[in-house]
Amino acid sequence: MAQAARILKTKVGIIGGGPAGLMLSHLLSKSGIENIVIEMRDHETISNTHRAGILEAQAVSMLTDSGVEGRVLTHGDEHAGIDLRFNGESHPLDFRELVDATVTLYAQNEVFVDLAAARARDNGDVRFNCEVTEILDVETSTPKFRFTDAEGTLFEVHADVIVGADGSRSFARRQMPDSVKQDFKVTYPFAWFGILTEAPKSSPELIYANSPHGFALISQRSETVQRMYFQCDPNENVDDWSEDRIWSELNQRVAGPDGFELKTGPIFDKTVLGFRSFVRQPLSHGRMFLIGDAGHTVPPTGAKGLNLAFADVKVLFEALDSFFSTGSGKLLGGYSDLALKRVWKAQNFSYWMTSMLHTPVDADPFMAQRALGELETVTSSRYGQQYLAESYTGWPHS
Ligand code: PHB
Repeated sequence: MAQAARILKTKVGIIGGGPAGLMLSHLLSKSGIENIVIEMRDHETISNTHRAGILEAQAVSMLTDSGVEGRVLTHGDEHAGIDLRFNGESHPLDFRELVDATVTLYAQNEVFVDLAAARARDNGDVRFNCEVTEILDVETSTPKFRFTDAEGTLFEVHADVIVGADGSRSFARRQMPDSVKQDFKVTYPFAWFGILTEAPKSSPELIYANSPHGFALISQRSETVQRMYFQCDPNENVDDWSEDRIWSELNQRVAGPDGFELKTGPIFDKTVLGFRSFVRQPLSHGRMFLIGDAGHTVPPTGAKGLNLAFADVKVLFEALDSFFSTGSGKLLGGYSDLALKRVWKAQNFSYWMTSMLHTPVDADPFMAQRALGELETVTSSRYGQQYLAESYTGWPHS
């Protein structure tokens, strides 16, 4: 006989306990709105999953204003610009001077650690190692989902609203019927080879390099640990890359007449990150709402992934707060359209940065030169620089 499910009643059932799900849960609890977070992975796995590290000032404020005592202010590194490097030359952009804004370099896994600690401190109901197997009745006012915990016990969550915050392979997203959904996607003919190295910083700001050998990004983690990426084939095998080979590949992509060279050190992590642009429309169905990567994915070139997820959280949190305090579903009904406006701006920016900085291996020489013309246009014009700076540091939240 099938196991009887244990019933858990709550207001908001959140599927996915990454930064987006936890941030939403944290804001809801602060407003006295009961919620449960169900996450498939364990805490340790998420803490060790390396993702992009740039936070817009607004994302930092969402953490600090809501009392996530984190280390974002003490351990995060404020950056007031980036360096666009092409034709072997550096083109620094000063965000503070251009648009009076900065970003903070603070790794996404650290954001997760801080949020998980804040939820634990506030006795939030966050369950790791639990697999959601079914979502039911989202077209009614009593949506439900079922999950099994690590011991195999079956639970059924009865909520007023369900949120899919379960990442780019979202189970929640897959439950939307074909008749209501539309997907938009782009796949790219390249990926990023990412490394972590024990080395000092090579330059004060992040370097985004376009070179005839392909793109490279020189990012950072701390005074002694650096994060770097270079464009590679999506099927590249990390085991084929010795440290020497990685360093010579990275160095040739940032080389120039100025003699710039990277500061090297032992490499302790190597991963290939595939990337794509994806949007699901709409971001809601009945009483189920998608946030973050569950609803949309951007390539990492514009560093928008987590920032976009937090912008979704802000819009959805305000809509839920209004729903539970007034009973009006007006803002909830507008969630998808409002969130998607920013999503498409970020899609455009990420696609633009990606295509301007990467040269596909079989690139038409005209297209490769055209991208250099675009970089020259942007960096030689104050308006061009401001356009990039404003997008990179983040448009105001709605
Ligand atoms: C990173 O530090 O991991 C990082 C920074 C900027 C990006 C992407 C990734 O655009």
